[in-house]
Amino acid sequence: MTLKYSSTRILHDDHMATLALLAEVERIVLARRDGPAQIEQQEGRFLDRMCKALNNEVGVHFDFEESSILPMLAEYGEPDLGELLLEEHHVLRDVVRDVVALAEGGRASGFSPEQWQKFRRLCGELVERLTSHIEKEERALLPVLEEALTPDTDSEIAAHHDL
Ligand SMILES: [Fe+2]
Ligand SMILES: [Fe+2]
Repeated sequence: MTLKYSSTRILHDDHMATLALLAEVERIVLARRDGPAQIEQQEGRFLDRMCKALNNEVGVHFDFEESSILPMLAEYGEPDLGELLLEEHHVLRDVVRDVVALAEGGRASGFSPEQWQKFRRLCGELVERLTSHIEKEERALLPVLEEALTPDTDSEIAAHHDL
């Protein structure tokens, strides 16, 4: 997909970075039925990176979409799409919060078998819901934005992202 505007490119680049993170979650967490007996350096580094990315990239990305992008959709005749994406953000924020809390707990003092199962189940839910959300935005949101933006509104929105 060739994107004309900075605002849509920002969203697209974030989406690709998040999908790469989710692929790692699948490989490192979902593929392991049994949790690590203790957190080795490599796993610790991954958990730190995962928490940071979920808090910053996903949190900041959702805020940006909610403050600058989704309100535009109503103006361009797509209010239902905006509402659906917003509802998905609410559910995803809860899942992200629980995943981060369990990851931080595991990072600090290891995972009991029950905690690992819970962590793995929530990571599975995160991968499924966030992948589907991103696919929806790539397929439905970005094309609408590319139509709706003008060079002026694009610079304004992209500048807001960099604040
Ligand atoms: Fe979103
Ligand atoms: Fe997004």
